Amino acid sequence: MRTPPRLPFEVAVPTTLLQSDLPGLDLIHRGKVRDVYALSPRELLIVASDRLSAFDVILPDPIPGKGEMLCQISNFWFAKTAHLVPNHLTGKDVASVLPAGVDARLYAKRSVVTKRLKPVPVEAIARGYLIGSGWKDYQATGSLCGIKLPSGLRQAEKLPTPIFTPSTKAAIGDHDENIGFDQVVASIGGDLAEQVRDATLKIYTFAAEFAATRGILIADTKFEFGTDEDGKLYVMDEMLTPDSSRFWPADEYRVGISPPSYDKQFVRDYLETLDWNKTAPGPKLPREVIDGTAAKYAEALKRLAGIELD
Ligand SMILES: Nc1ncnc2c1ncn2[C@@H]1O[C@H](COP(=O)(O)OP(=O)(O)OP(=O)(O)O)[C@@H](O)[C@H]1O
Ligand SMILES: [Mg+2]
Repeated sequence: MRTPPRLPFEVAVPTTLLQSDLPGLDLIHRGKVRDVYALSPRELLIVASDRLSAFDVILPDPIPGKGEMLCQISNFWFAKTAHLVPNHLTGKDVASVLPAGVDARLYAKRSVVTKRLKPVPVEAIARGYLIGSGWKDYQATGSLCGIKLPSGLRQAEKLPTPIFTPSTKAAIGDHDENIGFDQVVASIGGDLAEQVRDATLKIYTFAAEFAATRGILIADTKFEFGTDEDGKLYVMDEMLTPDSSRFWPADEYRVGISPPSYDKQFVRDYLETLDWNKTAPGPKLPREVIDGTAAKYAEALKRLAGIELD
């Protein structure tokens, strides 16, 4: 067989994807970041796009490579925590399920083939530090989502022990709302509620310890869970990424201030300088904010997983 002649120039691999386009596959959901396709009654193809949402609004500009980085960070953690809690990955090769004619290079690193689960209708949040809405809640009530804390804690202080602070799963455009554990029990039953809480704290505690060895503090994070037809619980969606977590560089951590983070704070800080009412449509981002955001994701991927982008 003859090999094709080499081109006298490098063909650029497209790595930016605002919206997936997979003709012939059944698109069942376009989330803020992920496009979800049903491959069968039991399996999904989940594609992480380069969309960026801030204040729950999808911004018009993609962040080049973001979906690939998110997917690789998640895959790293799924593998690392599989001994603690089962996850939704099937391990199937993405290229083998793409329709003919689709450039696999555009999808391979940003997609996963997963079990198709029934989502548990709760955002499972673990907090290890007193920051964000948790800090506000504590200042107002001395508690965190109904859990009484010692008095005199300061902003960003490490909690005596990590806490499970669930919230509702809001539809696109709405904001999630904190709820008490009793409301989780009322919604999904005591047995599943306890499993979700225990799995959340188990993964968080393990991951926070690991990340600390890489110079990153995980202040808080959100997991999503789902159940299969036998009622078995799996962690799904994404895991311990800058989108779902607050990562702090350990060397810049101080109690009493809000430490800089790898999450979307960089973009949020820019957006706060604008006269924008935080409802759709979101504003366009300047080049340096797009590049700076991409660099933050790349740094998180490198520090945590040791993966450097080409
Ligand atoms: N294994 C799975 N089985 C069923 N649904 C899943 C699975 N993994 C992820 N999902 C769902 O796929 C969707 C992924 O979309 P995306 O991550 O963009 O989130 P979203 O719902 O828009 O909001 P958020 O920003 O809160 O993550 C979510 O609705 C998530 O619950
Ligand atoms: Mg999600």
